[in-house]
Amino acid sequence: MRHKRSDFPEGFLFGTATSSYQIEGHAQGGAGRSIWDDFAATPGNVVRAESGARACDHYTRYEADLDLVAAAGFDCYRFSLSWARVLPEGRGAVNTEGLDFYDRLTDAMLERGLKPAATLYHWELPSALQDMGGWRNRDIASWFADYSQVIMERIGDRMWSVAPINEPWCVAWLSHFMGLHAPGVRDIRAAARAMHHVLLAHGRAIEVMRALGMANLGAVVNMEWAMPADDTPEAAQAAARYDAIYNRWFLSGLFKGAYPALALEGLEPHMPKGWQNDFPTIQAPLDWCGLNYYTRKLLAADAGPWPAVREVEGPLPKTLMDWEIFPEGLYQFLKRTASEYTGDLPLYVTENGMASRDVLQDGHVYDEGRVAYIDNHLEAVRRAQAEGVPVDGYFVWSLLDNYEWALGYEKRFGLVHVDFDTLVRTPKSSYHALTAALKA
Ligand code: FCB
Repeated sequence: MRHKRSDFPEGFLFGTATSSYQIEGHAQGGAGRSIWDDFAATPGNVVRAESGARACDHYTRYEADLDLVAAAGFDCYRFSLSWARVLPEGRGAVNTEGLDFYDRLTDAMLERGLKPAATLYHWELPSALQDMGGWRNRDIASWFADYSQVIMERIGDRMWSVAPINEPWCVAWLSHFMGLHAPGVRDIRAAARAMHHVLLAHGRAIEVMRALGMANLGAVVNMEWAMPADDTPEAAQAAARYDAIYNRWFLSGLFKGAYPALALEGLEPHMPKGWQNDFPTIQAPLDWCGLNYYTRKLLAADAGPWPAVREVEGPLPKTLMDWEIFPEGLYQFLKRTASEYTGDLPLYVTENGMASRDVLQDGHVYDEGRVAYIDNHLEAVRRAQAEGVPVDGYFVWSLLDNYEWALGYEKRFGLVHVDFDTLVRTPKSSYHALTAALKA
């Protein structure tokens, strides 16, 4: 790696990220059923119908996994809490085994000198709440606030940071408009409601945590740099519309108390009643904003109903996800987010990384592509910093190869290889390169 810790300002934090359903093994420890269990059990949704039932068995192996995080020299560990593990029915009875697990996990981080950076929701909605409409139902904001209270009363005193919801675009649009993630809905009215309720739930959780006296609360949004596929005005318009729905909706809601006109043009008729009055809650003050960034998209106009946008394959080198590698987009997003939305608020890159084929050869995994990917995105961070953008940390997705949602276990994002038969962990070249960079 070209970059090392000393290239960054004093106090700049490095971390690595995971999420509960992707690594823990959801079948263990009394967790309730989640929409991802249901989605995976429905033919055609997930590659080989794989689920997170066992995943990386982090539930029992968390101490060894955290040893790997600490040994690499990371400062922070970004992890998520499973709502269904804490409250199997989403509301009501608490699973004490689940609370105890997150308590032990927290202490295990602190014992290793790692800052716990928690996310309250990384997509495994309890199925019982989906039965009541899930993200379509406005009541989800109260259910989520109550869940936040239950878990943070137990571990909130030891969190370094908390974000309520990972990637609201995925929760709302990918899952309720495109239907590619659980609950697999393709319905514009459901999508419009989810787009709003996810931010309302975020705001309610922030209020709950402030009332508990907690600090360093933020939001984590995902971004894809949207570019026109050609130089027609139609393509420019398609890219702007994609940008409004994907990137600007959530930042505008959180930091401007409004939704972008280019997204409302299609969604307004489907919005829940009184949505305009919810911004004081949605805009609960934050201490930082996290950006998850992987790729860009090229867009063209499409026939058919709004948003009438079509993705066009781009020419750049791609990762195993077929995502073009475009570090410039991270630089642009950091600049634009600070200048248009967040001002002096600290920004973090809360996820960045790539999937590659990653095979074990004589006990090694040579993933030089990942080393270059991380290096080039760190360069984008440095460029933004040099121009005055307050970027305070960078988290690699992910610590471990894990359950990559609808794509199952074959898309390996880890710094550490996982053999999904034996569950043996093998640090890859990227892990060793980062270790050297962080200790330098
Ligand atoms: C992000 C998700 C994370 C993982 C990476 C590849 O959108 O937050 O769980 O799937 O993409």
